[in-house]
Amino acid sequence: MTFPADNVAERATTCFRNTYGQPPAGRWAAPGRVNLIGEHTDYNDGFVLPFALPLRTVVAAAPQPTGNWTVRSELTGETVTFGTDDVSRPGRVTGWAAYVAGVVWALREAGLGVPGARLAVASDVPLGAGLSSSAALEAAVLTALVDLGGLELSTDKQPRLAQRAENQYVGAPTGIMDQSAVIRCRTGHALFLDCRTGQVEHIPFDLGSAGLAVLVIDSRAPHRHADGEYAGRRASCEKAAALLGVTALRDLPATGLDDTLTRLPDSEIRRRVRHVVTENQRVLDTVALLNAGQARRIGPLLTASHASMRDDFAITVPEVDTAVDAALAAGALGARMTGGGFGGCVLALVEADRSDRVGAAVAAAYTDRAFAAPSFFTATPSPGVTRID
Ligand code: GLA
Repeated sequence: MTFPADNVAERATTCFRNTYGQPPAGRWAAPGRVNLIGEHTDYNDGFVLPFALPLRTVVAAAPQPTGNWTVRSELTGETVTFGTDDVSRPGRVTGWAAYVAGVVWALREAGLGVPGARLAVASDVPLGAGLSSSAALEAAVLTALVDLGGLELSTDKQPRLAQRAENQYVGAPTGIMDQSAVIRCRTGHALFLDCRTGQVEHIPFDLGSAGLAVLVIDSRAPHRHADGEYAGRRASCEKAAALLGVTALRDLPATGLDDTLTRLPDSEIRRRVRHVVTENQRVLDTVALLNAGQARRIGPLLTASHASMRDDFAITVPEVDTAVDAALAAGALGARMTGGGFGGCVLALVEADRSDRVGAAVAAAYTDRAFAAPSFFTATPSPGVTRID
């Protein structure tokens, strides 16, 4: 896959011209992401290690003198217009356009004078696959509006603002990982983020020169009550932190964990906590190996992360477990579900020349179990949101 994704950028321009009868003033591209490791740790003030994909959402935009906002989706063919009343409080714009209105709302809440704008959106990031299509849309719209309005908003403040749009305007109680990844990632690196402090370190993850590849497998599993389950896991973690007298589960050390767990009332909540604490440690161990140039050795940590999500956090489904097992049996160095869970994508770390074989083995396992055929692509660590022109 080439970068920048010229085709999707051209599609955004065409969509803009066809809708507004004029060329855009600029185009902004934000990536989808996969998370290498560190799942359901972000809202526990913990650690994550995502990297950005070459797949992009492109927003073509120009100022709109009326002061309203109009946005066209290439995908749905819908055009939505909203004004300042609609962004005075959450809930007035719904559906996909809520992510756009949410960004306008969050910028205004931060005291910034957001210019009216015409926008057109085209995307290569698959929807509902757990690759952060919503964060990509938020980030592309956010940077477009910041640039069009000449707003003062440093890059390190942008993820929180996009997260507010999603949490409060759209109403999805997600953590800070996705918005941080799509805004702050760099080519050839994974983003080591401390979700408590917002501090980042760019960890070299040059797969090609190590002879490795990350194969992403879209499980195509239908989402099974993912929103409610996500909120439920988050609530369990907050309850456990309160019971244990800590601000967040991040504050629990991995050493002595078994003793800590005995202070919790039942086995389900103990398993939830064990996932978060051990997962934070796996992120730290992965970062240490990558910094030591030992990318091949992170495989077992990825696989252990999957087992923890399956057995302790209970967020996997048969399709993703099948993909992980088949990938490992075909020689993947490690494999795990990535993202919020209950479907979505699996990533497998493979020797580059084994990628096709691993993909074929997963496809065969799906056929055996009569699952809908999975889809595949190889992921190279790509840049965060950029202005194209
Ligand atoms: C979703 C959320 C993130 C994070 C992951 C799980 O992607 O948007 O904030 O919690 O799930 O790691």
